Amino acid sequence: MMCTMTAQALHSHSYDSTLMERLLFRVAKKWVAGYSAGEAIGAALDANRRGMSAILNFLGEDAADRTQVGLAVREYLSLMELMRARGVRGCVSTKPTQLGLAVDYDTCLQNFSVLAKKAKELGQFLWIDMESARFTEDTITIYLEVLKDHPMTGVAIQAYLRRSGADVLHIIEHGGKVRLVKGAYHEPEEHAFATGEEVDRNYSRLLKMLAESGNFFAVATHDGRLVDEAVNLRANNCEFQMLMGIRDELKSQLVARGLPVAEYIPYGSQWLPYSVRRIRERKRNLLLLARSLVQS
Ligand code: FDA
Repeated sequence: MMCTMTAQALHSHSYDSTLMERLLFRVAKKWVAGYSAGEAIGAALDANRRGMSAILNFLGEDAADRTQVGLAVREYLSLMELMRARGVRGCVSTKPTQLGLAVDYDTCLQNFSVLAKKAKELGQFLWIDMESARFTEDTITIYLEVLKDHPMTGVAIQAYLRRSGADVLHIIEHGGKVRLVKGAYHEPEEHAFATGEEVDRNYSRLLKMLAESGNFFAVATHDGRLVDEAVNLRANNCEFQMLMGIRDELKSQLVARGLPVAEYIPYGSQWLPYSVRRIRERKRNLLLLARSLVQS
């Protein structure tokens, strides 16, 4: 009952936002390094000590104006420098709408080019996250544009989208690099597969295409069956990526087998939308939240 109420509250946003945010942060701390870049660097160094590289994400999305976008760009530029100064093995990953895609396409393209140039200077990789389906086309176009001068870049592709087979082929043909994820947004059936089985089947299909391509790619899932499948493909052109706070034992097992693993580590004050996605994708997390509500 509590679980259903919590789910409804998350869905409708009809809750007292301050109280709910406070309670949510207790749970969110599991997946988020903290508010500051310093905390993110600490978590990244910890991931490095556990044999993984780190992918840092300054939380933020749907930036509504150029001021917000400018702040995000500056944060990433200084974060990349800080990673270098503190000897972090890793890179950053950023969202298109954080860099201005909801404001203006050209601004977003220019901002990605600026970050890619900085990443190149520092010898770091740059990942582009994928957001909801209305941004897919523009995100891929921007990625392929940035890729022309910056081969050390990659983009996330969501296996739940029906279009992703064609997108993966297109990106492979251009020599691009894909991070394969299942997908974390709510999409209508016209765009996305409706069942988990269909999404998993598509994930397997795309996994094989990427393994055969020879291009570097990332297997970004915590799904043990798909991870096994990827391991069994014996592709030497991929790395495994998982989110902070999820399936740490699986990360350690892969590291122990000598496979490359990266941990995605988000930080910043805009932790709510990210955490809501994490809570929604697993019933047990709703229980965790419900318990936190009961204990308050
Ligand atoms: P699935 O949801 O089937 O989970 C498999 C198993 O993993 C579960 O049984 C459970 O054990 C564990 N698990 C998964 N989620 C959990 C959670 N929240 N809490 C606790 N355990 C959990 N999405 C997107 O749309 N755009 C993007 O750019 C990215 N980027 C990205 C980067 C990286 C490195 C990862 C790992 C994931 C993303 N995602 C993403 C998120 C992705 O689309 C997806 O929502 C989550 O990874 C959950 O799906 P799984 O593939 O883990 O499978």
